Amino acid sequence: MENQALLQNINIGPWKLRSRITMAPMTRGFANDVTGTVGEEVVTYYRRRARDGVGLIITEGITPSPQGKGTFGVPGLYTKEQADSWRKVTEAVHEEGGTIIAQLWHVGRLTHPDLIGGLAPQAPSAIQAEGLVHKLRKPFAMPAAMTTDEIRELVSQYTLAAKHAMEAGFDGVEIHGAHGYIIDQFASPITNSRIDNYGKDREGRLRLMKEVLSAVGEVVGMDRLSIRFSELKDDQTGYRWQEPERELDAYLYLFREVGLGIIHPSTNSFITPVAGGLSLHELVRQRWNGAVIGVGGLTPSSASDAIVAGVIDLAAFGKPLLADPDFVQRLRTGQPQIPYEPTLHLKHLL
Ligand SMILES: Cc1cc2nc3c(=O)[nH]c(=O)nc-3n(C[C@H](O)[C@H](O)[C@H](O)COP(=O)(O)O)c2cc1C
Repeated sequence: MENQALLQNINIGPWKLRSRITMAPMTRGFANDVTGTVGEEVVTYYRRRARDGVGLIITEGITPSPQGKGTFGVPGLYTKEQADSWRKVTEAVHEEGGTIIAQLWHVGRLTHPDLIGGLAPQAPSAIQAEGLVHKLRKPFAMPAAMTTDEIRELVSQYTLAAKHAMEAGFDGVEIHGAHGYIIDQFASPITNSRIDNYGKDREGRLRLMKEVLSAVGEVVGMDRLSIRFSELKDDQTGYRWQEPERELDAYLYLFREVGLGIIHPSTNSFITPVAGGLSLHELVRQRWNGAVIGVGGLTPSSASDAIVAGVIDLAAFGKPLLADPDFVQRLRTGQPQIPYEPTLHLKHLL
């Protein structure tokens, strides 16, 4: 069968995954906006994907800090109460034979004091983003450049959130280092004009990412840790790396240095060439032997082809899995996929 490759099981580190199909991280905004805890509807939402046969579920972005929140209803993992609420989700997924990791997401400058207790957003430098805050519809606020003490505190917040994730029964953690959020803000010369150890050159700009990966890896185990990174930025449409290959080499060097095994390069268009006629994932595969998660407008057939060609190991689907809790079952039985419709599918948790 055409999509057979997607349905094969695979062992990645300690995970025994039933299929290559991965649920891409997707913010849904259904957490309690005051406590940052998740409830029964979120438990059911993830349980259904696990029951369907998704191999690896990556949760929606979960903030490690009250200041990391970029819209309403974002869950947290910085309190014990939040961790306890996630325990019900991990238990449900495990009951269905699934595997689930928590994505840690801090938005940095892409927020507003209204969402973060009246404080200024945190960022590497006081450079304001253009655009409006998701749902709040107010302009992104001017951020405050973080002191080195505040950066140290931020790394501790990631560490604590990772401890809470493991206490809550997650099988691992993904660090959101992509899409123009705080770790990516440090990584990019457009948002980072620091002249200290956390800026200045490429190595300095990637220091926060390295420190977060090392600290979180120590808590969860390097073989249970994934990093999402991208040239794509949610607030800068069409942004492109100036030197894609050099940029990638710097990331991959860092990932080897910290001993990472799983990486999740993110793009909205899996097939679009990034350099030398090769797509982002093809460029990565040329340089990286560890596990690679593919994502970005994948269809069952493009995902299967990329797995068979050895470009990716796991295939993450976002919108298709949001639209259809029976996505895997439909694939297995050869039924047509349900098309994603934002007006319909974003409003409710199916
Ligand atoms: C509603 C929605 C919410 C998203 N939230 C996140 C998020 O919290 N973290 C993240 O890394 N990516 C997020 N993404 C991006 C997806 O993980 C994925 O990369 C993107 O949708 C492309 O995959 P697709 O074409 O299969 O949908 C989100 C996408 C959507 C549609």
